[in-house]
Amino acid sequence: MLFYYCFISVFFIRFFGQDPSTAPRRRPSTRWIPTALLQPPPSSSPLAKKGDSVLDLCCGSGDLAFLLSEKVGPNGQIAAYRQRRRSKLCCKNTKCVEGNAVELPFFESYFDAITIGYGLTNVVDGSKAMEEMCRVLKKGSKVSVLYFNKSTQPLITLIQDLMVDYVIVHVASGHGLGSEYGYLKNSIKEYLTGDELEKLALEVGFSSAKHFEVGEGIMGNLVATR
Ligand SMILES: C[S@@+](CC[C@H](N)C(=O)[O-])C[C@H]1O[C@@H](n2cnc3c(N)ncnc32)[C@H](O)[C@@H]1O
Repeated sequence: MLFYYCFISVFFIRFFGQDPSTAPRRRPSTRWIPTALLQPPPSSSPLAKKGDSVLDLCCGSGDLAFLLSEKVGPNGQIAAYRQRRRSKLCCKNTKCVEGNAVELPFFESYFDAITIGYGLTNVVDGSKAMEEMCRVLKKGSKVSVLYFNKSTQPLITLIQDLMVDYVIVHVASGHGLGSEYGYLKNSIKEYLTGDELEKLALEVGFSSAKHFEVGEGIMGNLVATR
């Protein structure tokens, strides 16, 4: 899980410009993340700002939604969206919504930004989900899709495979969660490369799309603008 939180943090800092270790926390500290990974690239503009309405799709336990709620402040709002609601997310500006990502119950051009972290591969029809994200985003606003990077470089793929087998699944097994992470390697293989993700985003209606490699190519982040 630490590995997972590390990349959520890197993602957040890179595209939202805030170090979550300085934000109020309900999770273990992420201060151990190497400082080099915490620097946002100079060219990146923030996806969300104070007062924005943001959709966090496939929100899971809500780690990203929680960080976003701090970012948009009391005048902003977060819709934390997932298929099944197990517990209530606890922020004043955060609403938990239950449903399927392929059929979003929101008006067209409603959100100022959308995030989906480690979730697109969970949705059976990822392409339809991308289409829906495009529909509910305001014109000129961005979606940020974070997942493992399906690299075209054999060395990166090898390092990633070893990391999944000997770090993630190994650590998860130690906590009795091995089976929950066993699918990861296949899921990365069935995912899209950066180029394919950019192509998909343009096909479903986004006006531009750029895929960034994160963490030396182990993770990937597609940023698409409606
Ligand atoms: C691995 S978790 C994502 C972790 C999360 N983004 C976080 O920051 O903690 C996958 C999530 O996808 C959601 N999910 C899977 N299929 C979905 C669908 N078709 N529509 C909406 N949510 C879905 C699950 O309910 C789960 O919350």
